[in-house]
Amino acid sequence: AYITFDSENVNKFVSENELDEIQPLVTVADQQLKDRSGAGFEFTDWLTLPADVHQNELTHIKQAAEKIQSDSDVLIVIGIGGSYLGAKMAIDFLNPVFNNELANQQRSGVKVYFAGNSISSAYINDLIRTIGDQDFSINVISKSGTTTEPAIAFRVFKELLEKKYGKEEAAKRIYATTDGKKGALHDEAQKAGYESFVIPDGVGGRFSVLTPVGLLPLTAAGANVDALMEGAKASQGDFTEADMKKNAAYRYAAIRRILYDKGYTSEILANWEPSMQYLAEWWKQLMGESEGKNQKGIFPSSANYSTDLHSLGQYIQEGRRDLFETVVKLDSPMVDMDLPKLSDNNDGLGYLEGKTIDEINTKAFQGVVLAHVDGGVPNMAIHLPKQDEYTLGYLIYFFEKAVAISGYLFAVNPFNQPGVEAYKTAMFALLGKPGYEEKTKEYQARLR
Ligand code: PA5
Repeated sequence: AYITFDSENVNKFVSENELDEIQPLVTVADQQLKDRSGAGFEFTDWLTLPADVHQNELTHIKQAAEKIQSDSDVLIVIGIGGSYLGAKMAIDFLNPVFNNELANQQRSGVKVYFAGNSISSAYINDLIRTIGDQDFSINVISKSGTTTEPAIAFRVFKELLEKKYGKEEAAKRIYATTDGKKGALHDEAQKAGYESFVIPDGVGGRFSVLTPVGLLPLTAAGANVDALMEGAKASQGDFTEADMKKNAAYRYAAIRRILYDKGYTSEILANWEPSMQYLAEWWKQLMGESEGKNQKGIFPSSANYSTDLHSLGQYIQEGRRDLFETVVKLDSPMVDMDLPKLSDNNDGLGYLEGKTIDEINTKAFQGVVLAHVDGGVPNMAIHLPKQDEYTLGYLIYFFEKAVAISGYLFAVNPFNQPGVEAYKTAMFALLGKPGYEEKTKEYQARLR
């Protein structure tokens, strides 16, 4: 495989025998996925997205991205959950850390800011001030087209856009990514003539990063969408065998399942690059929303190293032993630098002279793996050869394939999210949404 999955450091906790024992279940899960007989099969079209993607669609995305780049300094991407995290993690992964702060000529695309992923008035106000008098466009993303958080943000930023450019020009700066047939956003886009992109029916929110949901924002930000899809396609081809010995995505899923049965019920996705913080946020939704059902599932959490070694590190080393760790490690950084040489050794770092900063980072990674394994934390590592589009496409598909199998190993439907509705019902009732009258009375009484 193009990425390296290293499970050497779970050997102390999971034996090859145990993996052999679970192989028949993995084979059944694989069959269910392949012949579309498993729970939620109607939402498995992401399986073939990389190979099925139409050149026409990519061209449409590139043309829209070019228009955005030519008439705007800023793109406001409005969405939440699966309509937000994929684009956010991909843009962070593929661009310089301070991308939005760079001068225009140092950036390969527009500045991207996200909105509609909270209901914070301070956030909206701060973003409006940050846009200032810069030219901007909006990409509003919602599969259902009815989600409250993005709908609120869209109202605010649409009004801002219309005030700045007038209704007609504003409509040319709004890009709607939504269902192809229904929903409030779909209907509005049709009426107002917004340029529209379709989220396929058979692809759920958290599996949608390789559709226009992720592709338009990241292309506008300057990413090479062809390379991203090529990487995903290679991954699609590489993780097809049911046999775990030939399929690292399945091996990862099986190890997680065995660890869970042994009481390791929380997984930490750790990184060693600040630009990969949101990779974990995207992964947390993918894993948590797919597995966390019927009072089961591994709790997905994350850590950013070495930052969190100075906060969570104590707990990970010596706290309750229900944790295991999966580390995403970049093998060679896109840019490295030497540690400055000094004529004195007042800071005690003389012994590091001659090393690059990334060599030190890598030694820290190796040391932390040893320490955590010694402390009783099973450890897996995913090594990335590069931090580019191809690698990211490959990694996205690896995790998607792994969680599908993992969900079936937990005997849940990995492709629905019924639990997401509970908070909405309570919120709508408290806000007095028509149709919720009975619930309004019930919840108000409880709050009193
Ligand atoms: O995975 C999911 O389905 C959710 O996280 C959704 O992506 C999220 O609620 C946003 O929904 P929508 O795209 O319909 O606005």
